[in-house]
Amino acid sequence: MKTRQELRVPTVNSERIQNRINKLSTFTDPDKPWSRTAFSERHLAARGWLADEMCLMGMAVDIDAGGNLIGRLPGLLDQLPTLASGSHSDTVPAGGRFDGAAGVIVALEAASALRDAGHKLRHPFEVIDFLAEEPNKYGLSCVGSRAMAGELTAAQLSYKAADGTTLAEGIALMGGDPKKLGSPVRVRGGIKAFLELHIEQGRVLENAGDDVGVVTAIVGITRIAFEVLGRPDHAGTTPMGMRKDAMVAASAMIVGFERRALEESPAMVATVGKLEVGPNASNVVPGQVDFTLEIRSSSSEQLQRFASWAQWYATTIASERNLDVVSSIIGKSEPIEMDPTVQIAFCDAAASHKFRYRSMPSGAGHDAAHVALFAPSGMVFIPCLDGRSHCPEEFASADQLARGAQTLLGAILILDDNHK
Ligand code: GLV
Ligand code: MN
Ligand code: MN
Repeated sequence: MKTRQELRVPTVNSERIQNRINKLSTFTDPDKPWSRTAFSERHLAARGWLADEMCLMGMAVDIDAGGNLIGRLPGLLDQLPTLASGSHSDTVPAGGRFDGAAGVIVALEAASALRDAGHKLRHPFEVIDFLAEEPNKYGLSCVGSRAMAGELTAAQLSYKAADGTTLAEGIALMGGDPKKLGSPVRVRGGIKAFLELHIEQGRVLENAGDDVGVVTAIVGITRIAFEVLGRPDHAGTTPMGMRKDAMVAASAMIVGFERRALEESPAMVATVGKLEVGPNASNVVPGQVDFTLEIRSSSSEQLQRFASWAQWYATTIASERNLDVVSSIIGKSEPIEMDPTVQIAFCDAAASHKFRYRSMPSGAGHDAAHVALFAPSGMVFIPCLDGRSHCPEEFASADQLARGAQTLLGAILILDDNHK
C-alpha cells in the first residue's frame, strides 16, 4: 500500500469543472436562459444528473429530510465529524450559470481530484446541493440550509405558492421529509467544517485583480410581504378622487422606502424586486398589489429598526389613501461571522498556490449563513465578469473557477490534517 507521501498531491481539473458547469447549465428553460428555479421539473432533472455524478465518484447518495441532495465519501477515520462543501443548483428566473452551480460543481471537483490522486481524507467528506437557496414560488430562500439548522417554522412550511401547493409539499416533491422538520436535520458537532465557494456577485475582486476572496461575514436579510388592499373599479368611469388605487399606494410606499434607505448607512440596502398587481388589466383601477420588501445589512439592529419603520410607514400611507395594508415578515437571517479557522485555512491554501487573495464581507445571502448556526463555516469567493450576477450575462472564466477550486481543495486538506 502507498504511504500518504507517495500519493500525488490532489489537483483540480479545470476542463472537468468546465464540462460539468456546461452540463448543469443545459437544465434550463430554453426560452429563458438560465432558469432552473427551485421545485421545477428542470431542477429535479438537474439533481438527477448531479446524483449520478456523485455515484460515479463512489459517493453514497442521499436526500435528507430538508430536501438537500448529499453525496458522502467515507473517511479513513469514519467516526470523525464530516468535512462538507457545496452550494445550490437552483437559479433565479433568467439568472446565471455560476451562482450556486459553481459551488456545487467545485465541491464535486474536490471529490474527483481526491479520487484521481488516490488521496483518502481522514474525515468523511460530503458534497451538498442545498435545496432552494433562491427565493422561490413559496417566497422563502435557503430552504434546505434552514432545515438543516432547524430554523424552518411550521408557519413557513405552510407557505403557499400560487399553484396552491405548500412548501412542505414542495420539499416532499424534492425527496425530503417535511414531517421530520420539527427539529434540526443536523446536530451541532456532526460537521467539522463547511466550506462554500461562490462567485463574488460584485466587483471588488475584479477591480483589485485578486484571485479569491475569503469571506469574513455574511449580511443579514429580512424579507417582508406587503398586501395593499384597495378597490378594483372601472378605469374610465371612476373619477380620480374616488379611487382606492392599490398600485398608486404601493408606489408611494416603495418610493418612501428608497428615500429612507438612502438616509441610512451605505451598508444597508432595501429593494422591492417582486410585485404583483391585481387584476392587472389596463382598464381596471388596481384593486390589490402584493410586493416583497427585502432589507440587507451587516447590523442586526439596523435591520430590525428599518423593518419596523417600513411596516409603520406602509400603514401610514394606506390610511392617508383610505385603503388597507397587511404586512408580515416572511424570512429573516441574521448577519453572521465566518469561522476564523476556516478563514485561515482558505488564506493558507491560497497563499500556498501564490494566489492573490483578500478578506472581504458578503453582501449576498448564502447557505453558509445558516450552516454557520450549527457548524464552523467559511466561504471563498471568485471574481465574476463586471461583478454581474442574477442575470444571464453572469460569467466566471475556467481559470478563475480553477483557482477557486484549488483554494477550496487546499483548505479541505488543511482542515483534514487538523483532526484532534
Ligand atoms: C442570493 O442569491 C441572494 O439573494 O443574496
Ligand atoms: Mn443568487
Ligand atoms: Mn447563490
